[in-house]
Amino acid sequence: MSDSSQHSSPNFDAFDTLATMVAVVQADGECLFANAAFENAMRLSRRAVQRSHLYDWFVDSQRLRDTVQGVARNAYSSSRFDAVLRRGARQAAPGQLADELSVHVIVSQTEFEDLVLVELIENAQQTRQDREERTFDQVQATKELTRNLAHEIKNPLGGIRGAAQLLAMELQPDLQEYTQVIIHEVDRLQSLVDRLLAPHRHAPVVGDVNIHEICERVRSLILVEYPRGLKIVRDYDTSLPDFRGDREQLIQAVLNIVQNAALALLPQMQERSPGADDGVAGEGGACITLRTRVARQVTIGKQRWRLALELHVEDNGPGVPAEIRERIFFPLVSGREGGTGLGLTLAQTIAQQHQGMIDCESEPGRTDFRMTLPLP
Ligand SMILES: Nc1ncnc2c1ncn2[C@@H]1O[C@H](COP(=O)(O)OP(=O)(O)OP(=O)(O)O)[C@@H](O)[C@H]1O
Ligand SMILES: [Mg+2]
Repeated sequence: MSDSSQHSSPNFDAFDTLATMVAVVQADGECLFANAAFENAMRLSRRAVQRSHLYDWFVDSQRLRDTVQGVARNAYSSSRFDAVLRRGARQAAPGQLADELSVHVIVSQTEFEDLVLVELIENAQQTRQDREERTFDQVQATKELTRNLAHEIKNPLGGIRGAAQLLAMELQPDLQEYTQVIIHEVDRLQSLVDRLLAPHRHAPVVGDVNIHEICERVRSLILVEYPRGLKIVRDYDTSLPDFRGDREQLIQAVLNIVQNAALALLPQMQERSPGADDGVAGEGGACITLRTRVARQVTIGKQRWRLALELHVEDNGPGVPAEIRERIFFPLVSGREGGTGLGLTLAQTIAQQHQGMIDCESEPGRTDFRMTLPLP
């Protein structure tokens, strides 16, 4: 409609802080601005992106063309669809193939009538985000329930145990076997409930925490427990700053995750090749990697943080059993004989008490538990 492009060169630099790809284009697709995430994903310089037509970067751009024009014409204010980006196509060196990136596209109006905002979210990123949000909501929902239920179970346990003991004194010895069963089961329930309530019991002891000190503590504890056939690789970003937190609780959280990895690797530890050095895994040998990284502009739950740390606990074991993959952070979900299914619930609660969260990606041969904690 408008024949002028007389806007006083608006400044879109604020988009550079976004983790999603954003471009501002004219109705004909000419790119006026592309943010840092866009450049990175396209592996191009800003100048190269900005001189081009957005449509050139799509495998099939007809849908995008129609949508951008529709939005610019005011036919609708915004629209979303899936598309495939072709990146590195022009810059590809001879013999190097351009690769494709599947994205979710959101086209919307800007305050400048002939400019259109195009937001691209990597589909893998979208799935990860969806999963994180689901995990967060699930954990919130079960936390209260678990805590209340644990209290309700705990209250009568003392009474039941006392009554069984009194009863035992009145019974002939051959019947005391039954009261022993009651007492034993009550004790088991008691310790289960104590573990469930543990993270809520004390006010957190907050001090300066160094993530690598935590990793080293956990590493030495695990190596004492599994002295043979397990390799623990450290890949630390030592530039990570200290942060405020409850050190002992965080050690517990990381220990629970690493403990699970070690248990999943047990068969691989046992079949290590004879003669291999202790603690050194050969090809296919049991290996856990502790990796720390800085993350920028992360969303945890519904909150956005400028800076966070990521601790990845990666193992090369068989992976989380598919039947329980979606539910491992729920209390009492266990995939192994003798497991109580509380380790990850507790770890998640502790991470959340630090405004962080834990999520998991798992396939046979590579399981990655990622704990994200916001940094000041
Ligand atoms: N690294 C891993 N590789 C494979 N499976 C895993 C891994 N980590 C967790 N799991 C699966 O997730 C389940 C839940 O773990 P969680 O720590 O919550 O409970 P648990 O280990 O069974 O019992 P516990 O309360 O003693 O920790 C485990 O039983 C296991 O099946
Ligand atoms: Mg466990």
